[in-house]
Amino acid sequence: MATPWRLRTGGVDDLDLLEPLWVAVHQRHREAMPELAPYVSDAETWRARRALYEQLIASPDTLLLIAFVGENAVGYGLTHVLPVAGSWIEDTWVTGDRVGEIESLSVLPEYRGSGLGSELLDRLERHLHERGVNDFILGALSGNSDALRLYQRRGYQPTWLYLSKFAGRPRNSR
Ligand SMILES: CC(C)(COP(=O)(O)OP(=O)(O)OC[C@H]1O[C@@H](n2cnc3c(N)ncnc32)[C@H](O)[C@@H]1OP(=O)(O)O)[C@@H](O)C(=O)NCCC(=O)NCCS
Repeated sequence: MATPWRLRTGGVDDLDLLEPLWVAVHQRHREAMPELAPYVSDAETWRARRALYEQLIASPDTLLLIAFVGENAVGYGLTHVLPVAGSWIEDTWVTGDRVGEIESLSVLPEYRGSGLGSELLDRLERHLHERGVNDFILGALSGNSDALRLYQRRGYQPTWLYLSKFAGRPRNSR
């Protein structure tokens, strides 16, 4: 059966379309781990994310894929390539010289669970393979169990865990 969405690649001119999709990820983060509050505002998360995407899209190895239903953007994925030298990977694991990072994956709530996230991930991984990059990383909140399940089913394994003790967080919160 044909999927209700169509995918196309995106560029810097499409970044405004991604704001609600990224804010949905931020919302998911806040819901998954309320004990890590306070979180930055929706405006602040997008300001920082947009600046990161502008920087990443400047590299020819970056791929931004956007899913549309009609005129509406309902999901996206973004991957980029980074050198292993100087990264946290270099001194511990055997990999190629370059690693592909799945920087973002987002599907609007009403479209989740119907295969769009998996298709975006497939396409991002294929893009990396086509560039000779066969080692992949991605970051996720440890409490984002739905997303972790998807990634682990796809062969990603928990690898490096950051712990935080931020001054703005009440000491006794959990
Ligand atoms: C994670 C995400 C991109 C997956 O996209 P998707 O289109 O729902 O994925 P698919 O339909 O291909 O696969 C479904 C799988 O996604 C995961 N999933 C995550 N959130 C889900 C949700 N709200 N509903 C259904 N599945 C969800 C599950 O592992 C599910 O598989 P299951 O059968 O084990 O439950 C999407 O759920 C999303 O945008 N979540 C919120 C933002 C987020 O957490 N992004 C990842 C940040 S690291």
